[in-house]
Amino acid sequence: PLSRSLSMTSLSGVLPAWEEEELPVEDLLLFEVSWEVTNKVGGIYTVLQTKAKITVDEWGENYYMMGPYYEHNFKTQVEACEPPNPAVRKAMDALIHNGCQVHFGRWLIEGSPFVILFDVGSAAWNLDRWKGDLWETCQIGLPHNDREANDSLILGSLVAWFFKELIDQLGDKPNVIGHFHEWQAGAGLILSRCRKIPMATVFTTHATLLGRYLCAGNADFYNNLSKFNVDKEAGERHIYHRCCLERAAVHCAHVFTTVSQITAVEAIHMLHRKPDVVTPNGLNVKKFSAMHEFQNLHSTSKACIQEFIRGHFYGHLDFNLDKTLFFFIAGRYEFTNKGADIFLESLLRLNYLLRLHKNDMTVVVFFIMPAKTNNFNVESLKGQAVRKQLWDTAHSVKEKFGNRLYDALLKGHIPDMNSILDRDDFTIMKRAIYATQRHTLPPVTTHNMIDDATDPILSNVRRIGLFNSRNDRVKIIFHPEFLSSTSPLLPMDYEDFVRGCNLGVFPSYYEPWGYTPGECTVMGIPSVTTNLSGFGCFMEEHVSDPAAYGVYILDRRFRSAEESCNQLTQFMFSFCQQSLRQRIIQRNRTERLSDLLDWRYLGRFYVHARHLALNRAFPDKFKMDPMAPLKTEGFRYPRPSSVPASPSASVHSTPHHSDVEDDDDDDDDDYEPYDEDEEAERDRLNIKAPF
Ligand code: UDP
Ligand code: GLC
Repeated sequence: PLSRSLSMTSLSGVLPAWEEEELPVEDLLLFEVSWEVTNKVGGIYTVLQTKAKITVDEWGENYYMMGPYYEHNFKTQVEACEPPNPAVRKAMDALIHNGCQVHFGRWLIEGSPFVILFDVGSAAWNLDRWKGDLWETCQIGLPHNDREANDSLILGSLVAWFFKELIDQLGDKPNVIGHFHEWQAGAGLILSRCRKIPMATVFTTHATLLGRYLCAGNADFYNNLSKFNVDKEAGERHIYHRCCLERAAVHCAHVFTTVSQITAVEAIHMLHRKPDVVTPNGLNVKKFSAMHEFQNLHSTSKACIQEFIRGHFYGHLDFNLDKTLFFFIAGRYEFTNKGADIFLESLLRLNYLLRLHKNDMTVVVFFIMPAKTNNFNVESLKGQAVRKQLWDTAHSVKEKFGNRLYDALLKGHIPDMNSILDRDDFTIMKRAIYATQRHTLPPVTTHNMIDDATDPILSNVRRIGLFNSRNDRVKIIFHPEFLSSTSPLLPMDYEDFVRGCNLGVFPSYYEPWGYTPGECTVMGIPSVTTNLSGFGCFMEEHVSDPAAYGVYILDRRFRSAEESCNQLTQFMFSFCQQSLRQRIIQRNRTERLSDLLDWRYLGRFYVHARHLALNRAFPDKFKMDPMAPLKTEGFRYPRPSSVPASPSASVHSTPHHSDVEDDDDDDDDDYEPYDEDEEAERDRLNIKAPF
């Protein structure tokens, strides 16, 4: 039976409190299965990695994650150890004694959860038999040439086998919950259920296979949701078998969840089951003790990006870095789904507007989307080398200058400034300057692209002609690899990079959640999202005036692509017109929404889903009122009381419910207009200058 009632108080006092029967976790084991456990592909990795802390806090050593074993990932992210639970050890051994390799350890992330990783390659010799099993169980056949589907079946077969051995050991205490993410983990769920293994199961989808494909193929998806013949469409795209796996997993699960409301509607049409719970994605939010701390981080990270820019644009640094804004888009490289198409089009228009209005701002735009490359290109590496050389030259001349000045002062006189540096010093400096001459424009891409001629970003850059020429106010840098602090080119982690930017632009067309704008929000960086992304819809639903908080929601649902481009251009142009002061105030507001995106708040939906699954799998043991709604429904975060410093164009993109309870919370950014220059403004807000 369920034990006492758990009462979670709100984080900030603004968010609603919540009550749910607490699960007797000491009598339960929780396993979360995903292809992205310790294996970064995209946002699902972020879900698992950021959620680990609150899950371990609740479940302690009764929580395990399961996924594929890759030697490199294991060596760099996992500390191997012995499973403390003898039943887990025995279940693993059963597989190991049959020739399959299974690894155990602690994932070195916050919370240090246990991970059980299955070496898919070591069990590949079973593939044909397992394909036969799958066919006999549910008549799904997998073609031999789909490596991803075959690997997912091997993982699924190993996982189901593990659960069988485990539950044979355990009997019915503790009970087991298996939470499976996305179709690649689906086979494990299907097989466990078909073999009638007594456990509670949850399946979470982070997108539907067909939805992603249809949108990438430029279908008018949202206006035709109910009209697609899903089997036919899947067949035409050669993904029928994958869709069957996905649909079977969805229907086998005791509880089906999805990451957003918009994907819930999509799932009804594509997968024919209404999700039982929407489990929005949260983040592991770090709070700073003082407001100005994250503003300082912005300054230091911005300084790193500026250093990179100095190198990349050597010989062309005719724009003022103090009047340069950094915009970026990031994520898996899905050109139209992520809205890179309308972003590029809008940048062309922004470039035109900035030139037309003789605006003195320059915008440098980064595209961080992994593509196939042959490493960094020479021109980009050379840029950083030239910058380094100039820095070294300046440094050595500065040393000489300083020593001579010091000597002179010791002797009691001020030296003649015209002769303090000798001819050799000037020669060195001239040579350094000559080395900065270049006959090419600063490159658009930082890497040698394998598909240079057909790459969608590069093809569109060629079409719109934004080649980083001197006249352009909008410059483009395509970095076709995720960022890393060990890069010789731009040595920054993604998080630091985001902190240093001014605006994240994510004009997605297909985006079940979309972590990137949420990550900006918790770091106090404004961003553009859309009313077709799960995150954007969540913000529209739960925040009275998202734009006032630096979350601009682009309308891609009720407007044509052309109109969306104009709206995005307006957002960006208005952003360029903000003063430094306005940007600082906006960052403060943006960061204030963090609580709403914190797993400590959003984790409750996972708790609810697990509870429901137990109730459905073991109704006599785990009772609950299945109709009881989550107490957070209908909640809206109030608008800041200060006059929004947001651009005038940032109106709601869709008709709104009436704004409930406009707050009168003490708005510490709501001060009188301030007229001094920007440096004084920085001092006042205790923000370090970028250098
Ligand atoms: N990301 C990253 N390094 C980068 C760029 C992006 O780790 O250099 C991460 C980012 O933090 C985010 C994820 O990639 O969590 C993208 O997830 P999202 O949900 O936005 O989209 P997906 O790619 O899963 O569709
Ligand atoms: C998928 C979706 C993305 C979502 C992520 C995590 O990759 O494309 O929108 O944020 O999963 O749920």
